[in-house]
Amino acid sequence: MTLERAVAFAPASVANVAIGFDILGFAVDALGDRITVTRTVQSGVRIASTTGVATDLPTDPERNTAGRALLALNVAAKPDFGFELQIEKGIPLGSGLGGSAASAVGAVVAANALLARPFTKLELLKFAMQGEVVASGSMHVDNIAPCLFGGLTLTVGIDDPRIKRIPVPKGICAVITHPHMFLSTKQARAILKREVGMADFVWQTANLAGFISGCYTNDLDMIRECLNDVVIEPQRRQLIPGFSAVHAAAISAGALGCSISGAGPTMFAWALEPQAERVRSTMLAEFARNGVECDHWVVPVESDGARIVA
Ligand code: HSE
Repeated sequence: MTLERAVAFAPASVANVAIGFDILGFAVDALGDRITVTRTVQSGVRIASTTGVATDLPTDPERNTAGRALLALNVAAKPDFGFELQIEKGIPLGSGLGGSAASAVGAVVAANALLARPFTKLELLKFAMQGEVVASGSMHVDNIAPCLFGGLTLTVGIDDPRIKRIPVPKGICAVITHPHMFLSTKQARAILKREVGMADFVWQTANLAGFISGCYTNDLDMIRECLNDVVIEPQRRQLIPGFSAVHAAAISAGALGCSISGAGPTMFAWALEPQAERVRSTMLAEFARNGVECDHWVVPVESDGARIVA
């Protein structure tokens, strides 16, 4: 039976996870975008509506992350029908929570459900990557991969990406604090230096290797030691009011680590369940002291990726 319409939920995500710039991310199932794709007689891709927490999105598919991703799928699928998109944003733009990735992923997951011969997840990933270019000007996958596959994911490669879902030790959850401010990913990427010093390179490599091995071996001390970004965070923290105080508060409340979610301004911490509420309240208190109000969640790191919900 062929479907006329499908609705996909695509979760938010935390990219980089401190030490895996552009290659590591985890899904945040507490919020996400809902994308409805309807089969149309007329071929091509049309955006019918954008609603939710961001409504002034471009409706030209070429300039819209969901539209561009769906155009890429459309070229590959060559269906004898067209697609109409309704985008309901649950993820604020410029929040550092992977909003553009979620729209792109939701669009291709929903459209895929209408196809007689659906694509694999890896093929959908490549279509969604086209959408990410519209938003940030670069083809990074660290939001798209966890949004699509769920959990903590590592992506190796761009042209022929390989995805690994990394196991997360039981009892670890993520504290997410989203300051009410907009930060452009393009701008947060533009300020980054093009070169990395040798000492920083060695530390960052060690931290990434230690973090991943800590996840595989349930070594919480190793995770705590390594969840520490010596390259990107020092350059971006000035963009977030109160960053140093929030970071220090999270660590002193027992967090395993704390850093910027993606390009910011959202900050995340990893903590064991018994410490999570305290980590959340101290981070919020420090943001408040700096005049910043936040949305906030405590979520499991292990969670599902994008899925059909109707
Ligand atoms: N890895 C990207 C960055 C994620 O930090 O610029 C942006 O969402």
